[in-house]
Amino acid sequence: MITVIGIGPGDSKYGMLGHEALFAKADYILGSERHLEILPKEYAHKGVVPPKKLGEMEALIRSYADDAEIIYLVSGDPLIYGLGKWMSETFPNRVEIFSGISAMQYLASRVFLPMNDAYLTSSHAKVPNFDLMMSLEKVFMVTDAKVGPYQIAQEVVKRGLKKKMIIGENLSYDDERITILPAEAVEDRDYQMNVVVVMDER
Ligand SMILES: C[S@@+](CC[C@H](N)C(=O)[O-])C[C@H]1O[C@@H](n2cnc3c(N)ncnc32)[C@H](O)[C@@H]1O
Repeated sequence: MITVIGIGPGDSKYGMLGHEALFAKADYILGSERHLEILPKEYAHKGVVPPKKLGEMEALIRSYADDAEIIYLVSGDPLIYGLGKWMSETFPNRVEIFSGISAMQYLASRVFLPMNDAYLTSSHAKVPNFDLMMSLEKVFMVTDAKVGPYQIAQEVVKRGLKKKMIIGENLSYDDERITILPAEAVEDRDYQMNVVVVMDER
């Protein structure tokens, strides 16, 4: 069985609860260094950082015995811009998914922003559909280094729109930083790992 577990935004108090029994019987616990860091110490020796390329990751998993108990830790929720879909399609009938708190949900709670009617998207390794985004009232986005808070803000500015942005960096960690400001005030600087909300000003 391959169990994909969403670990939440990062800090262990927001995820992993109730998974001790699974860790105990697992043969391998896969995840990035950041994800494996929050594994209870007694299971740390089972940790494996898999290759990032999907083909190589698949080969690694296939190299394990068919009856191996494999856990894959992923950030946030596995089915919100995570590996959940790929895993369930690549290993049909072998995968179980445990949902976690998405970084988007975490940010929403920190700023008391309901997610009702929100549109969720990502700029991870792709250019998002900015025209669609800008036509909507409330958009949550996970980002990457190429299209981050400043680039998103510039899409608002160049359309002459008035939108508020909420930028949540390193959410749930000690150096968490949440900034709420009009799009035109978003600085061109280096941002830590972040979630961005773009919404109509009220
Ligand atoms: C591949 S996506 C995974 C999203 C994840 N499945 C979720 O539900 O949160 C990775 C992106 O999620 C966002 N992210 C994940 N954890 C975060 C955190 N603790 N603080 C800020 N952003 C985070 C960042 O935009 C990061 O580039």
